[in-house]
Amino acid sequence: MKIALTRKLPTERLAELIDVYDEVRIMEEHRPLTPAEIKDTLEGAQIAIVNLTDPINRHTISDSLLYVITYSVGVDHLDLSLLKERNIGVSHTPDVLTDATADLAWGLLLACARQIPQANDYTKSGQFRGFGPQLFLGKRVMGKTLGILGMGRIGRAVAERGKGFHLSVFYHNRNPLSDEQEKQLNAKWVDFETLLRESDFLSIHCPLTEHTRHLISDKELGLMKWNACIINTARGPVLDERALLHHLKLHPEMSAGLDVYEKEPQIPKELLEMDNIVCLPHIGSADRPTRETMANICVDEAIRFAKGDQMEYALTL
Ligand code: DGY
Repeated sequence: MKIALTRKLPTERLAELIDVYDEVRIMEEHRPLTPAEIKDTLEGAQIAIVNLTDPINRHTISDSLLYVITYSVGVDHLDLSLLKERNIGVSHTPDVLTDATADLAWGLLLACARQIPQANDYTKSGQFRGFGPQLFLGKRVMGKTLGILGMGRIGRAVAERGKGFHLSVFYHNRNPLSDEQEKQLNAKWVDFETLLRESDFLSIHCPLTEHTRHLISDKELGLMKWNACIINTARGPVLDERALLHHLKLHPEMSAGLDVYEKEPQIPKELLEMDNIVCLPHIGSADRPTRETMANICVDEAIRFAKGDQMEYALTL
């Protein structure tokens, strides 16, 4: 049996695949593969370990493929109906990146509120001439309203971290939490419009689906406070980038912290040039232990597949 990996993963355990597979193909490129390269890599493989930058669809899939493991919790890069139609199973890496992603959402929130990246650039470029009473006056976080769009594991971990800041936490989710969970997180379900109107900080944590694409666009941004801050560590297309740019130009007191983009890795130049937008290169899950755990889950699932064992992280398609 052949296994193909579209990227080298951060674990010492990749060698274990050699014991259970006749052929192990690992692409060594330090960049996402093109669709043609993905197709070529998957050729003849029964199982593939792919990344969120590898769309698996009619253009890239191989006839030999029986199983896909993705090194991500998100599965929006996989054509799930096609995989289901072909009876191809899918595993992903849920749970383990919850804390890392919640930490980064908070990192972006604080970075935006207190203009940390801008102040860092200012200091390192030698502009600091001494304490200034008006230097980098930012937003207060303590006691403000945190809005969470999508109250799954990551949304809840973000709320949990808010406790020390004595925030009012509002959330919007298709299914409200139980009373017990709400009490524990001190969080309140509100309708989408209230969430937009009331949030000082709005953090996006819903998956990308046909229902959430451009969930936040012109109308929704128009409902938000003139000085609100939006954080996106989920998926770029949930937030309409064109609308965000337009709105943040009109409202310089608003800000955004982005780890994800609509057409990654392309980011509009105008967006990069905005003073009130902090940009990161999709590193939500990138603390070393988290990424190693994700890689080990992929290896373990691949070994289970080779041995015909029950998969532990299979999605129900
Ligand atoms: C995922 O796994 O879906 C994340 O976006 C990676 O950080």
